[in-house]
Amino acid sequence: MVEAVLPNDANALGNMLGGRVMHLIDIAGALAAHRHSMSHVVTASVDSLDFRSPIRVGEFIILKSSVNRAFRTSMEVGVKVFSENILTGERKHTSSAYLTYVAIDLDGQPHPVPPLVPETEDDRRRYGEAGERRRLRLATRHKGLLPQP
Ligand SMILES: CC(C)(COP(=O)(O)OP(=O)(O)OC[C@H]1O[C@@H](n2cnc3c(N)ncnc32)[C@H](O)[C@@H]1OP(=O)(O)O)[C@@H](O)C(=O)NCCC(=O)NCCS
Repeated sequence: MVEAVLPNDANALGNMLGGRVMHLIDIAGALAAHRHSMSHVVTASVDSLDFRSPIRVGEFIILKSSVNRAFRTSMEVGVKVFSENILTGERKHTSSAYLTYVAIDLDGQPHPVPPLVPETEDDRRRYGEAGERRRLRLATRHKGLLPQP
C-alpha cells in the first residue's frame, strides 16, 4: 500500500502523526487478513510498536503486510512500514508491527480460517516466530484492562 504524506497527516514540524501511521498499519494488515480468510475481520490486538524515524510531508509511506500464520479463527499479520523520498528513491524502514485479526461472521462470531502453508525459508521462520508471539500475547491478554467500576 502506498500513500503520499500530505500536510493534513502531519504535526507542526512536518512529521507524519503516529496515529495516522497506526491507522494505515491497521488497514494494510486487515487487507492481508481479508485476502487470506475471504471474510470480514476485526482487529483483536496490536503488539508493541516503535517509530524508528520520522516520515516527512512530501514523502511516500509504503506498507507491506503478510499473514505470518493462521490459527483457528485468528491470523497474525506482520506489517512493515517504509518512508520513501520521492526525489531520490531513498527508502527507510520506519516501523514494524504484528497484529492479530479474527475472522467473524455477520453476527460478529469468530469462525475458522483456512490454514496457511509456509512455502519459503522466510515463511517458515515467520510461521514459527508467530507461534511463540501468540503464546506470549495470549498469556498477557486483558492484563492491560482497568477493572470495571
Ligand atoms: C476479537 C473478538 C472477536 C474475540 O472474541 P472472543 O469472544 O474473545 O472470541 P474467542 O475467545 O473465541 O477468540 C477467538 C480468537 O481470537 C483470539 N483472540 C481473542 N482476543 C485476542 C487478543 N487480545 N489477542 C490475540 N488474539 C486474540 C483467540 O486466541 C481466538 O483465536 P483462535 O480461534 O485462532 O485460537 C472480540 O473480542 C471482539 O469483537 N473484539 C472487538 C474487535 C474490534 O472491534 N476491533 C476494532 C478495534 S476496537
